[in-house]
Amino acid sequence: DSQFGVSFEGFTEQRLTRARLRFMNELTRETGVPLMRDVPAGQAKFVVQTGGPGAAIQQLGEDESYHLEVTPDVVKLTAPNPLGIMHGLQTFLQLVRITPRGFSVPAVTIDDKPRFPWRGLMIDSGRHFMPIPVIERNLDAMEAVKLNVFHWHLVDDQGWRIEIKKYPRLTEVGGWRKAIGFGLEAGASTAYGSDGRYGGYYTQDDIREVVAYAQARHIEIVPEIEMPGHSSAALMAYPQFSCTGGPFTADLPGGVFNGVYCAGNEESYTFVDDVLTEVFSLFPGPYIHIGGDEVSVDNWQKCPKCQALMHQEGLTKESELEGYFIRRVEKIVNAHHRRLVGWSEIRQGGLAPSATVMDWVGGAVEAATSGHDVVMSPLADCYFDHYQSLDHSKEPHAIGGYLPLHQVYEFEPVPANLPEAFQHHILGAQANVWTEYMPSFKHVEYMVFPRLCALAEVVWSPKAARNWDDFSRRVRIDCQRLDQLGTNHRGLPVTMEESMADQKRN
Ligand code: ACM
Ligand code: ZN
Repeated sequence: DSQFGVSFEGFTEQRLTRARLRFMNELTRETGVPLMRDVPAGQAKFVVQTGGPGAAIQQLGEDESYHLEVTPDVVKLTAPNPLGIMHGLQTFLQLVRITPRGFSVPAVTIDDKPRFPWRGLMIDSGRHFMPIPVIERNLDAMEAVKLNVFHWHLVDDQGWRIEIKKYPRLTEVGGWRKAIGFGLEAGASTAYGSDGRYGGYYTQDDIREVVAYAQARHIEIVPEIEMPGHSSAALMAYPQFSCTGGPFTADLPGGVFNGVYCAGNEESYTFVDDVLTEVFSLFPGPYIHIGGDEVSVDNWQKCPKCQALMHQEGLTKESELEGYFIRRVEKIVNAHHRRLVGWSEIRQGGLAPSATVMDWVGGAVEAATSGHDVVMSPLADCYFDHYQSLDHSKEPHAIGGYLPLHQVYEFEPVPANLPEAFQHHILGAQANVWTEYMPSFKHVEYMVFPRLCALAEVVWSPKAARNWDDFSRRVRIDCQRLDQLGTNHRGLPVTMEESMADQKRN
């Protein structure tokens, strides 16, 4: 037809008007067909119906289900909440085939809902600053594959990226380094200041813009402020919160360094409270990620303040001092009515009482069986900084490893040895994109897609529905859609060496 009428039912509040507009825009953009809004239900080709007003902010665990029915006469999309409607739209768009006269969609009836509430992607903006439009494009790509948690790694040894008004040097000093580093060509990125320094940061207004953009897509942002380790950039700006007094530099290669807050100095905790207070004022979601991975204890071993605290608290190992530090931070986080998430290592020396563990090097079963929630992002299956091919000569330089598409697809988030009674503690899974060797967003997209299509199915679909042969066919269509959206991806097919390696594995 030359015109495609859409009727909306149950969309009452102003906020939902925005959802309606986005719905229409997306449909038009991808199909190229002119749409008519608010035609009477009897004459509409596309009837969209939502039950309730839905929550203003997506809460993890909210009902995300939808029902999509395509018949020769009409498309019907219903969902209890607007976010189910947007998921259903994404499914509809996946089914759309552009034809010379418009578009076609196969007749289907789909009842759908996600398997896990946490379906995430982590991007490391610490190693390389990426401008706001790039971050927003990433949120678009996440929405297209129904991911709902953007874990934004905003702080690392090589850069502090979020403006904190009380500590302006965090970004004025810690947001920049002398050179791009990591053995990269100077011209591999455009993130240079007018003074030639490399880096950049997000103002608080920038952050508010991204948060609103994510909310419109029902994506929750979990900001990560790394501590006590991976904090060289922060300590370059404020060395008084270290054990040694510095100096520190952000011009560092990849690895683990002594940029660690002094756990024996009360002022460190005041600093953390001040910083997190501003972070919480910007990000409305319930979760804050505080890092906690790869803490070098060299300085703690030599520091009189840290040693005195250990003595006072009866701690015998520095790893227990990390536990102490994280538990102190959890008190701050909980006092702000937020929930703490940290990497595997936060279990060392006594896990903070209500912490969620992000498993990258183990601990999921121990954490879940002791009543803690867990997000799975194991090094072997979820690290999208690893190579996509065994033949490195055809790939951009990467940190190492090998994570082919089929391995992501076969990943099972619930650990095999986790008793059923505790399996509900596995909130879901996420991919991690550490960007040391990815100075441009095109490069990030290349590492993310199509592997993210595989992970998206792992966290969304019932385990029994997974079928590699069927996915291999469908992922080709996903890649065509990514091409239409202008999203970079590695593409298919896999190389011969990979196929052979895959056969050996199976
Ligand atoms: C990590 O990959 N260091 C969490
Ligand atoms: Zn110390």
